[in-house]
Amino acid sequence: MNDAVQASPEAKTPDHRMSAGFVAERACPQPNSRVTRTFAGARELLRSSDVRQAGGEAMKMVIDNPDHVSFFFLDGEVHKKRRASVAGYFTPKAIVTRYHPIINDSMDELIADLQAKGSGILDEMALLVAANVTAEILGLDCSGNAMAMARRIHEIRRTDDPAEAKRLREEFYQLHIAPAVAARRDDPRDDVISYMTKEGYSKAAMMIECATYGTAGVSTTREFIGMAAWHLFARTELKEQFLAADEAGQFAILQEILRLDPVTSYLYRVADVDMPDAAEGPIKAGDVVAIDIRSANVDTAVVGECPLAFDGDRAEKVRNVASYLNFGDGPHRCPGSQVALHETRMFLDRLMRVPGIRLAKPPVMILANNTQSYEIREAVVACDKV
Ligand code: HEM
Repeated sequence: MNDAVQASPEAKTPDHRMSAGFVAERACPQPNSRVTRTFAGARELLRSSDVRQAGGEAMKMVIDNPDHVSFFFLDGEVHKKRRASVAGYFTPKAIVTRYHPIINDSMDELIADLQAKGSGILDEMALLVAANVTAEILGLDCSGNAMAMARRIHEIRRTDDPAEAKRLREEFYQLHIAPAVAARRDDPRDDVISYMTKEGYSKAAMMIECATYGTAGVSTTREFIGMAAWHLFARTELKEQFLAADEAGQFAILQEILRLDPVTSYLYRVADVDMPDAAEGPIKAGDVVAIDIRSANVDTAVVGECPLAFDGDRAEKVRNVASYLNFGDGPHRCPGSQVALHETRMFLDRLMRVPGIRLAKPPVMILANNTQSYEIREAVVACDKV
């Protein structure tokens, strides 16, 4: 358990978190960063224009052409402009007309395979859906297998060996990006590759943009689907509540699960100026702050009583903050949050209705070193064979 939770008198109330103990034992914020734990402190920083992005490799990033840098690493006006240029990929219309058919087709394939074999590996199934949707957003759908693409991005992210990373990046470019660029040059569409081709992005800039989406869109959603499925399998009454709920009710359940087990442990910001009045005490220009999403999401001042317990009605009670810090806040708040929620909702709604569906083997958790987030692996689901 983290400090904020240990110190809380609420610690005796039911604790439905699956990953808290695991992450607290292993994850630690970046060295030389100070930690912000309250919801108010976290939100103030995430919304402030006096801080810059310090997550990922942002502090080492050399921004020679801000037009070609992934907007994750940008701030201020230039960030705002780039965010506006991608807004079209994330509209409700795009979600329904472009991604719903992909999610439905992926689920048809997955459920048919599951029922034919009688069992399947949960995180592999989740990966297929998340990879197919992100491949569509990127425009990599024409460049072969989305799963292979997602696996390569995952390997690039995991490896500590620079030579291996270089080899994998080259392979990724040749197998996935180059064919997509060739196709989109003649037939541009509304996707990231078409945009980058039109704007003349370098090979390296294209790689960074695809890898950012791969991590931001595929890895996070894959883990969240696994975590949410685990919650539903673990508590039959929750599964029943989920299956009986309408779309809005299902989203509220998913947000509550994500509040308890956020995929992101820490977000990072560096102060541009002295912030003497910051909510959790003065911050000096140049200070790096680790924003502890897990602690902020169980802050009783905002989420109410019994913060460690799942409460299906909590969203109703705290409407103003009902997505908590699950997807961040402020200018960098996740643009893909709705895409992720739709993918997860549709995945679980289909999976949980399969006759005889059960968790045959619970997952193991692994800590992803570079993001300090949990990964859900090796869970096996089983069902009646057809
Ligand atoms: C459950 C799944 C997801 C979670 C938990 C999640 C979480 C987050 C969080 C916390 C941030 C804020 C980072 C920061 O403030 O430093 C973020 C940013 C981002 N996410 Fe997501 N995300 C998810 C799914 C997706 C999907 C499906 C996509 C796209 C396909 C996506 C694309 C992005 C991008 C591009 C950013 C950078 C935004 C910016 O810097 O302006 N995410 N995500």
